[in-house]
Amino acid sequence: MSAMKKYKDLVEELRSYEGLASMFAEAAAGIDAAGDSEAIEAARVAHLGRKSKLSQLLRSIPELPNEEKPVVGKYGNKARAALEQALADRKKEIEGVQLEHRLATEQVDITLPGEPFPRGHLHIINQTLWEIEDIFAGLGYRIAEGPEVESDYYNFTALNTPEGHPARSSHDTFFVDGKEDVLLRTHTSPVQIRLMEKEEPPIYAIMPGRVYRRDSDATHTPMFHQIEGLAIDEHITMADLKGTLETFMRAIFGADRVIRLRPHFFPFTEPSVEMDVSCMICGGAGCRSCKNSGWLEILGAGMVDPNVFGFVDYDPDLVQGFAFGMGVERIAMLKHGMTDLRMFYDNDLRFIKQF
Ligand code: PHE
Repeated sequence: MSAMKKYKDLVEELRSYEGLASMFAEAAAGIDAAGDSEAIEAARVAHLGRKSKLSQLLRSIPELPNEEKPVVGKYGNKARAALEQALADRKKEIEGVQLEHRLATEQVDITLPGEPFPRGHLHIINQTLWEIEDIFAGLGYRIAEGPEVESDYYNFTALNTPEGHPARSSHDTFFVDGKEDVLLRTHTSPVQIRLMEKEEPPIYAIMPGRVYRRDSDATHTPMFHQIEGLAIDEHITMADLKGTLETFMRAIFGADRVIRLRPHFFPFTEPSVEMDVSCMICGGAGCRSCKNSGWLEILGAGMVDPNVFGFVDYDPDLVQGFAFGMGVERIAMLKHGMTDLRMFYDNDLRFIKQF
């Protein structure tokens, strides 16, 4: 059939009311049957596209007899509008179904347990610090803290260590650039001064914190931790110091530990001592850890020097006190049989997770 003949037949068919009605019914059924977006598009091309029957009919209007033009135009355009509406409605329906489907299949079950978040724990140094703090809290001590960036006055001068004193050079101090009198504290003892400046006796306090020294080898890191202790009251004697330290050592290293005090020198205590504890590894018989002596050196202590009281306006005739200072890393190493202090700060999880 030639193109022209086909065209004529079509127009002939659609000009009649029945012809148009059946074309409309066919198109409407095609649109209704479309089940997804692609089928909708195919139905649009088939029933409303340039080559669709309806478009061809509307294009043929100019050639129709005059009396038919308005009728075919009116119904043809009505049919087109109705089919366009049907197409839009069906499209919406399909999108709705697709959305429902996605909501049904892609939903998240919020009651399922989440991904477990790896839980950390306190660093061995903090665990040790807390343990020491706990023991002293039980003895009636409270915790005080002071700054890590300290003045020369608090770190040395007020601790009876004047400029030029030989004890200063043994501290390997880090100074703050361009400031001769500002430094990283080399010990926690300056907190003693700050506390006594602020408060009246009696004082029972421990002062934990980071301290800094220019020193680095298997038993020294440039940053480490100390705990300072200070007890100021009336009638405090060296026997109180010894009893307190012994109680503490037994609490942390075991009930059968014994201690001994050896004479020593610190500028801010008089008399001064170093305290040893009986070796917890060999029980005092002698081993590698205690270099066969049976004793481990643990801390420095002494009776607060009356000169220090002078700096904080305490009357040494009315009050006395003792002070001590110990390294937290050293205590943790002894408790856990470690030999290299640097492992605390390598941040190797294989090490850290063991505690
Ligand atoms: N501050 C001293 C040090 O770091 C330790 C100490 C504290 C000694 C208190 C006596 C009294 O070596």
